[in-house]
Formats: sequence, structure tokens, C-alpha cells
Amino acid sequence: MCGIVGYLGKRAAYPVLVKGLKRLEYRGYDSAGVALLTESGDLKVYKTKGKVADLENYVSDKDVSGCVGIAHTRWATHGEPNSTNAHPHISYSGNLAIIHNGIIENYAVLKKQLQEKGIEFKSNTDTEVIVHLIEYIRTKKNLDLLSSVQLALRTVIGAYAIAILDKNDPDQIIAARKSSPLVVGIGEDEFFLGSDASPIIEYTDKMVYLDDKDIAVIRRNEELEVVDFKNTKIDHDVQKVDLNLAQIEKGGFPHFMLKEIFEQPDCLLDCMRGRINVEGNNITLSAIIDNRKHLINPRRIIIVACGTSWHAGLIGKQLIEDFCQIPVEVEYASEFRYSNPVINNQDVIIAISQSGETADTLAAIELAKKKGAFIYGICNAIGSSIPRATHTGSYIHVGPEIGVASTKAFTGQVTVLTMLALALGKERGTISNDRYTKIISELSLIPEKMKELLKQGEEIKDISRIFTYAHNFLYLGRGYNYPVALEGALKLKEISYIHAEGYPAAEMKHGPIALIDEEMPVVVVATKNVLYEKVISNIQEIKARQARVIAIVSEGDDTVRKLADSVIELPQTEECLEPLLASIPLQMLAYYIAVAKGKDVDQPRNLAKSVTVE
Ligand code: M6R
Repeated sequence: MCGIVGYLGKRAAYPVLVKGLKRLEYRGYDSAGVALLTESGDLKVYKTKGKVADLENYVSDKDVSGCVGIAHTRWATHGEPNSTNAHPHISYSGNLAIIHNGIIENYAVLKKQLQEKGIEFKSNTDTEVIVHLIEYIRTKKNLDLLSSVQLALRTVIGAYAIAILDKNDPDQIIAARKSSPLVVGIGEDEFFLGSDASPIIEYTDKMVYLDDKDIAVIRRNEELEVVDFKNTKIDHDVQKVDLNLAQIEKGGFPHFMLKEIFEQPDCLLDCMRGRINVEGNNITLSAIIDNRKHLINPRRIIIVACGTSWHAGLIGKQLIEDFCQIPVEVEYASEFRYSNPVINNQDVIIAISQSGETADTLAAIELAKKKGAFIYGICNAIGSSIPRATHTGSYIHVGPEIGVASTKAFTGQVTVLTMLALALGKERGTISNDRYTKIISELSLIPEKMKELLKQGEEIKDISRIFTYAHNFLYLGRGYNYPVALEGALKLKEISYIHAEGYPAAEMKHGPIALIDEEMPVVVVATKNVLYEKVISNIQEIKARQARVIAIVSEGDDTVRKLADSVIELPQTEECLEPLLASIPLQMLAYYIAVAKGKDVDQPRNLAKSVTVE
């Protein structure tokens, strides 16, 4: 939620900031703004409702000079998206400008206190409180900016990544974080700030990922200094970040989402590289090797996640229970964090998150850690908060995912969960050698099979055109394909705004069948597995109610072809690996329906890629 960029150095700041905002626009896109310390010594703030392109139009005739600035793209929490609520916000003296990602929980109390002292607020945001508070402390106590920020942040409760400019000190930016991500890029005589590495990587690969309660003091011609609220110096690692620009650009595709769908075969090869050895009949996950005593014999495993990652968790449960005979529960992180779970040091928590920044998942991890559980993270964003909060984990290595609707991260998560379940099952002796060997070999073939499947893109596009009329969709699947149905429905609703529900196929008779008529298309995952005949009966029941059926079937299936209105064939694979293939046509179906309806696929309304607030 919200993207933050900052620059201090020798270049013109504005182009760096705007380019950075565009790279971070996936985090929020309802309004955008920039603050610059211009050559004439002014603090100029420009902000507008809409996207970064709207900001560019707005400032086209304005003074954007200067080599220091901060910029923000917003996902509204407090106050509607408009130019007043857009960031940066200015302190009451007009000297300080702030940008903020997060939520200040005690803002109402602080606002009241500041208003009682005569300070006027211009916006409805929680953010404005911080900048006035810093200014108030600085004036009343006659402190420098850093000390004022330190004092103010001791009063503030909530989540924040902030950056502050001072009109009277053009050689400094102060930045701080708690529970919202912030990265400092270190170049030659220049510094960059970003919510992640993407706005920085074009200029430097040297980065410092700030930890909670770190304050970065960025000063011209000085080394980066990181301190805490009491001004104690904090050692900071400068990491070399391995990210290339092609990974964060569209590469000829009309949307990031389509690029990411098509990247999946390569992503899964990257995910499995060095981990699967088909000839050696072996899976190596360093997290397991290093943590055998925690992972081989837990009392149970609890998977915590949100959204698509939660769907991957549902598949993970089936894989782990099937191969390892360990009981697994799958919890929404947002519910888990406020429950009073019975957990102890024999439990393992698997936290799944693409962004590694999801506030609810982080909070669930902290709760489980306090209760003594061992925490295993499955994340994509390297260096993000969740991998740093967990005891161990495995990255999915699918590269930056920018489209708001998750695609390649889902298949990457399922691939890591499959490898994890296989490796644990082997160690525990709960999976037969034959089955282990067969699944490893089939898993290694999945990227090639995905490539075959992706060739059906044009057919799926044709199918999608038929269904743009629909207001409701039902998605059905069973066993391993039940979470695929949930995920297919989520994809469709996120980007096309068509209401869609996923159900286990057999549940249809317990309620949803009442909705089925000729107006309601039903997508059924009906591959040839142990429940195939039962799913065929479901299709017949649907057809008897005149609904159109889109069926995802195994290659060469003539039975379902005779029943369904549209059919998409999947290459044969092991039943437990079917989600890796079956999810792809559902991603494409959602994508093409949304495009046909003229929707903004990469930046759907009300959503943000990284949900760093509750
Ligand atoms: O970054 P995370 O995996 O923790 O994000 C969880 C959800 O917010 C995310 O999967 C969301 O549901 C996506 N928009 C789904 O496409």
C-alpha cells in the first residue's frame, strides 16, 4: 500500500522520483505527489488525484528543479482520494514535507491534542498528524529535525515508512520505518529511498533494508547513518541486490499480468533450480537441512497467509498431509492473529506471502513466535519483512510480481510447497520411493507442459469473449483442484469486477445450485482423477439447469467435451501437480474477460499489491 521514493544527490531529483513512482505504482494508484527543494531554495509540493501520469501532466508547466525530493503514490486509508489528502503533507509552518506508508492508529488522539494547541489540519489523513507533531516538538523544544522525529515517533502508534524534507536544510532527508518497508540505495555521492528496490535498481545495486524502528539519516557528502529512537547507532548491512530492469518492465506485453502468466514456465525452472535433482532422485531445501530438529517431526503444521497465498496454503495442506502424514491447519492470517491459538514449541508455522510485507501475516508470525512455534517463511520479495521475521524459509524465486492479481507467485508457492512436502515425506519415510521418484520426475516436466498449455491462449481469448455478459460466475473443483477453483474465482473478481465464487464441486448441492440458471456460467475443473466420475455428475446437474459450462479437462477427454460448452485441455500429470497446470487457463480466462470488458488489469480498483495495513 502506498509507494515511497526519495532522492538526494547530484542529479535532477524529479525525473528519478517520477520514474520511481511508476515502478511503485502497483502499491497504490489513487493519487500521487512530489515535494522538491528547488534551486531557488523553495519547498515545492505538487499533488493530484489519479495516477502518476496525471501528476506528470499537472506539473508539466511547473518548477521541478532541485536535486533533493520525496514522492508518493497513494492507496487511500484515511480520507478519500483527492489532491488534498494526497501526500506529501506540509507542516503548519510550511517548512517540513512528509510522505508516509502505513496507518497511525492513535492519530485521532494526537490530532485533537494538536488542534487544541491551535494547529489547523488541511487533510483528513492520519499522516498529517506526524508532520505537525514533529514541527511542534521541534519549535517548542528547540530541537534539530532528527531529535524531533525521534521524540515524535515515540508518541506515534501504528505502522509507518516515512521520509521528511526540511526547507531549511536542503542537504538532508530523514527516513524511518516500523512495520512498513523502506530501502535506502547508496550510489556515488547520492542516496535513493524506495518502498522496495525497484525504483533504485536502475542507479545502484547497493541497498540497506531498514529494520523496524530504524531511522536513516541521509546527508549530502556523508555516509549513511542509521540510529534508533534514542540516537544509538545501528549497524546496517549494505546488500548487493540482484535484480535486473527487464524483470520490472513489461517486455512487450500489454500488461504485467499477461507477462507474468507467460513467464511461469521459466519462473518454475528458477524456483526448482539447484533444489531438484531428477537423476539423483533428490530434493535439497537448505531450510530443511539446517533445521531438521524442528521440521522433521512437528506435532502439527499451521499455514498462515492471505488471499492467493492462502489458496496455495490449502494445496500445501493436502500435499503435506498426503506425503508426510503431519496434521496441517490453514488459517487466514487476519483471523489467526486475533485468535488465541493453542500453539507450543512443537508446532511449525508456515507463513506464505508473495510480497513478504502483508501486515496480517507478519502479525500472525509474531504471535506464533511468542508462543514458541518454529516459523518457516515462503516468500517471493527478497529481503522483505517476513523472511526477516521467520526462523527459516525458502524463497520462491519467481522474480518481481507487479500485476496486482497474483499469478506466477501462486504457482511458485505451490512448487515450493510440493518440494517441501516431498523432502519432508522422504526424511520421515511417509512417502514410498516409487511415488517420490515419480512425482519428482513429473514436477520437473511441469514447465514444459505449462508452455504447451500457454499455446492455447488464443482459444481461451475466444472463449472469454462469450462470457463478458455475465454478472456472476461459479467455479467448482475437488480435492487438489478445489483451491484452484477458489483461486480462479478470486482472479476473475479482482480484475473484471464480476462476482465469482469458488466451491468444492460436491458442495454445489448444498446451496449454490439455487443460483444456477442460463445467466450463470460455471467453470468446472474436471480432470481425470479419482473424483472424475463425481464431477461429471455435477456437470450434468449444471447442464440440466441450462447454465453454460467451461470445463478444464485432461488431454483427450471426449466425455466432458460432449457435455460442456467450452473445453480447455490440460497435459496429463500427477493428480497432486494438477493445480500447477489447471490454474493457468483460469488466470488467462480472467485476464481476457477483464481486457474484453476494458478494465485496468494491472491496477484494479481499490486493490494494492502489498497490503501493509490491516
Ligand atoms: O503478498 P501476499 O502474498 O502476502 O499477499 C496476499 C494477498 O493480498 C494477495 O494474494 C491478494 O489476494 C492478491 N491480489 C491476489 O491476486
